[in-house]
Amino acid sequence: MKNVLVLGGTGFVGAHVCEKLIRAGLRVTVPTRRAVNARKILHLPALTVLECDVHDEAALTQAMDGVDAVVNLVAILHGSPAAFEWVHRALPEKIARACVAQGVRQLVHVSALGTDHQKPQACVSNYLRSKGEGEAALMRGLGWPQDKAADALAAVPHTGLTVLRPSVIFGAQDQFLNVFAKLQKWFPVMPLAGADAKFQPVWVEDVAAAVVQSVLRGLSGPPRWEVYELVGPQVYRLRELVQLAARLSGVAGGRGRPVIGLPRWMGKVQAAMLGLMPGKPLMSGDNLDSMQVDNVATAQFRGLTDLGVTPTALAAIAPQYLVADRSQTGLLGLRRRIR
Ligand SMILES: NC(=O)c1ccc[n+]([C@@H]2O[C@H](COP(=O)([O-])OP(=O)(O)OC[C@H]3O[C@@H](n4cnc5c(N)ncnc54)[C@H](OP(=O)(O)O)[C@@H]3O)[C@@H](O)[C@H]2O)c1
Repeated sequence: MKNVLVLGGTGFVGAHVCEKLIRAGLRVTVPTRRAVNARKILHLPALTVLECDVHDEAALTQAMDGVDAVVNLVAILHGSPAAFEWVHRALPEKIARACVAQGVRQLVHVSALGTDHQKPQACVSNYLRSKGEGEAALMRGLGWPQDKAADALAAVPHTGLTVLRPSVIFGAQDQFLNVFAKLQKWFPVMPLAGADAKFQPVWVEDVAAAVVQSVLRGLSGPPRWEVYELVGPQVYRLRELVQLAARLSGVAGGRGRPVIGLPRWMGKVQAAMLGLMPGKPLMSGDNLDSMQVDNVATAQFRGLTDLGVTPTALAAIAPQYLVADRSQTGLLGLRRRIR
């Protein structure tokens, strides 16, 4: 049985990845900062949870002992430029060194659509810039040059690298359509910055299937360096997604709230105010910066179908979880909504 280490395996995408890896007959280990964060995946057979600081390079290298493949899903959406650097660039540097030290065969790194490993400085936000720097750090660290085809190399690196760049990801536990639905239950209007930004939402199960395919291909074929863009079949503007979330979850009898597009400067003020609220911010100035470029496939890279995954339409899946929320009325629905 092959061993896979899944960094960030406790998260939204990670839980689906772990389940699919195990179904594919692989043994999975998930390092986490706090064991309690792994409660969603503890029931899975052939899964080990390891409380460990992945930023501690010695601990990370130790965790890769005997590991055939590594999946990296660790990321943050909000934070200071230093925090983005730490999680999105410095950690991949350590991951690459640890993979080389332990002779790991395949590394699958989940990045983000809109980034650029060749010109990270040209990216429009700290999030995307640091993601691009992370991709470049992995290539450098594993020995994959950016400017040469693999077959032109004198020595092919031992560790294959697959970079997956998803658009925004939807699924029953997403922090995206669920949040839009919830906000419209609370507020009578939806002031929205970046209302016309385009997205190509991709289903979490399709992303997880792409990760598993990338692991299996890397373990069975020669080492390669590849980038894939993971997108769904349809492009939406942000305002359409907000309206869809309201319609499906039955806000205001399915009509939703009026969406008022905000200019960028007003969006920045709104994001700054949201940042003062307790808990994880819903939106940050950096998120708004990311929306300056459309989050849709560039067609410069391969996609889901090249990994044998047929992209699933949002319209086929979102009703299942947003409508289910609406159907729970009374005490059960109230408990669910305030959780
Ligand atoms: N969700 C989306 O719409 C979306 C869109 C595009 C790209 N992506 C990318 O897809 C990947 C997975 O995203 P996700 O939505 O599943 O993320 P997530 O739910 O936020 O999970 C990320 C995981 O990373 C770990 N983590 C977070 N901050 C950390 C830190 N400072 N140090 C160490 N570990 C940390 C956490 O594990 P522990 O708490 O157990 O330590 C967490 O489970 C990420 O690379 C993300 O950028 C996501």
